[in-house]
Amino acid sequence: MKASNELRALRDAFGLFATGVTIVTGRRPDGEPVGVTANSLASVSLAPPQLLWCLQRESTSMDAFAAGRPFAVHVLKLDQEAQAMHFARRAAGKFVPGACSAGGAPAEPPHVEGALCRFECTVSALHPGGDHVIIVGEVGSVTAAAGEPLVFQGGVFGRFYPQPRARHVEAWETFSGDWF
Ligand SMILES: Cc1cc2nc3c(=O)[nH]c(=O)nc-3n(C[C@H](O)[C@H](O)[C@H](O)COP(=O)(O)O)c2cc1C
Repeated sequence: MKASNELRALRDAFGLFATGVTIVTGRRPDGEPVGVTANSLASVSLAPPQLLWCLQRESTSMDAFAAGRPFAVHVLKLDQEAQAMHFARRAAGKFVPGACSAGGAPAEPPHVEGALCRFECTVSALHPGGDHVIIVGEVGSVTAAAGEPLVFQGGVFGRFYPQPRARHVEAWETFSGDWF
């Protein structure tokens, strides 16, 4: 067991890695909508199309993300910080009419309006990840919009500034040119 100052240092070090911010939505087996703010999203595979994110074992939303269940990942825009904080609360009934309605068909994962991108997924695998569960999703469809992403780094929200003369990098392809 690590001392609390070591845990703090590890947490701070993880926080140096800048990420986007997402809200992952789903429904419990009885249909109740759930939503969780998560920055642990990672792309996994193009063929088959897969992504992953990590959910704390103690999350009250766990039963919404069992194997085979549908869920949706919403990549947030710069102006969605308040929604990120809303869905970071441990509270039942985060979807309240007026504030955040659980839009969409009754059976599908709720929509977070105004997001940069929505990935519709099905839970294809669950892996143990210490105090988290690694949730792998098969991506069924993608809806993307124009806009700026919300960024999270060092425990604060911010925005992304491309380098002044940024070159477009095809990260999926092998790079064989000169960088320097
Ligand atoms: C920027 C940010 C990123 C977060 N990322 C994650 C994450 O990747 N996984 C996770 O389980 N919790 C993450 N959280 C915390 C959850 O949002 C929060 O614990 C959860 O919504 C609690 O509600 P629940 O019990 O309904 O899951 C994050 C919180 C913030 C503010």
